[in-house]
Amino acid sequence: MEKVIKNNTLYFDGCNTVELAKEYGTPLYVISETAIVEKCSEIKETFLNRYERTRAAYASKAFLTLSMCKIIEREGLCMDVVSGGELYTAMKAGFPAERIELNGNNKSVEELELAVEYGIGRIIVDGLDELEIIEAICREKGKKADILYRVTPGVKSDSHDYIVTGKKDSKFGIPLDDEVIFPAVEKAINSEYVNFLGFHFHVGSQLHDNESHLKALDIVLKLIKDTKEKYGFATPELNIGGGFGIKYTDADNSKPYAYFLDPMMEKIQQFSKDLGITRPEIVIEPGRSIIGEAGITLYTVGTIKDIKGVRKYVSVDGGMTDNIRPALYQAKYEGLAANKADEPKTDMVTICGKCCESGDVLIRDAQVTQLKRGDIFAVFSTGAYGYAMASNYNKNPLPATVLVKNGKAELIVKRQSYEHMIENELIPDSLK
Ligand code: LLP
Repeated sequence: MEKVIKNNTLYFDGCNTVELAKEYGTPLYVISETAIVEKCSEIKETFLNRYERTRAAYASKAFLTLSMCKIIEREGLCMDVVSGGELYTAMKAGFPAERIELNGNNKSVEELELAVEYGIGRIIVDGLDELEIIEAICREKGKKADILYRVTPGVKSDSHDYIVTGKKDSKFGIPLDDEVIFPAVEKAINSEYVNFLGFHFHVGSQLHDNESHLKALDIVLKLIKDTKEKYGFATPELNIGGGFGIKYTDADNSKPYAYFLDPMMEKIQQFSKDLGITRPEIVIEPGRSIIGEAGITLYTVGTIKDIKGVRKYVSVDGGMTDNIRPALYQAKYEGLAANKADEPKTDMVTICGKCCESGDVLIRDAQVTQLKRGDIFAVFSTGAYGYAMASNYNKNPLPATVLVKNGKAELIVKRQSYEHMIENELIPDSLK
């Protein structure tokens, strides 16, 4: 999303961010609806409308609220959920069950029961024992679930080790050893309780290179070929996951969806022709790329400590509780003083949070203008995995979220209150 500077002030989707901070308080997540819609439109133009029999399921783990479900529904996308809580949120928002797909490496029986009960579109099964649980549920409920198998193609992708998922040493998916995958496939094809539709893979997240997607695709196409040869089964669907990288800093060379998807589609089309099968329906699961750059976080500057010859710490009123990514993945961000947006950046500081944790740093060595207590500091590209991974560490309440669009702002998540934070806590009689 284009950041505009007017009268020394940062505007985001037409909204004066300093006014937003004043009105809603800080820390504040600000989400641009225009930016989300732009990404959805790019997906529609360059993928969904370009190739028939395709779907895009927004990976809701990146950012999920009731309002986000409404936007995704209106934009015509499907939704990928990975827990009972995400499924509940989508259903509460009235998201059509048949457009929901459930992933997860350890779905509980209750989560699977809910999925079957609601009649969601797909269950992406992570292993043979999960298939057996689903079969038992379907048998009991007299339903038939549409399933795919998530497989681990065994490729290494270029991203932080915590967010690569396609390598063999992974808790996700079914490894492609013949003695493991083929009995599972055979059982699913022959099951009277599930419709086996095909395969799913996801190689990793925040990728700027299409190499690991293409390598994984080759491996899974070979699996489709083997499945055809062994069982005469023409795989009707293939889910190629998400992982498309975004721009956090100038060092990130993010690419359009087509850079990843066109060469994959070309490969799949040629492969299907050669094998003499109808090209499988292709599903993608983008999360970060839809919401990441659509979000910024606003903070108020507090204590500033200039340790001569060492470092200048500028503390803000949030930190790892609203954005764990720098602490967890050494993720890099950029930011700007929203109320001094045009002023020369003559200072080098470390923007840190307020948690009792030395690793609670948001931006190390940020080139900024001279900051002082009370300034509003904006951190960019925080839409994905910020609010989604937020915590109450140090009993800091979760920030509010506003949705902005063409100069209009609406609250979509209220700031958590102290009361709400301790709502579920009890004092047993023995301590009273
Ligand atoms: N599909 C599956 C099966 C996934 O596991 C993921 C992400 C996605 C789709 C969406 O990937 P995306 O398009 O957002 O890259 N918390 C980490 C990211 C973890 C991603 C886990 N899986 C972070 O903040 O970088």
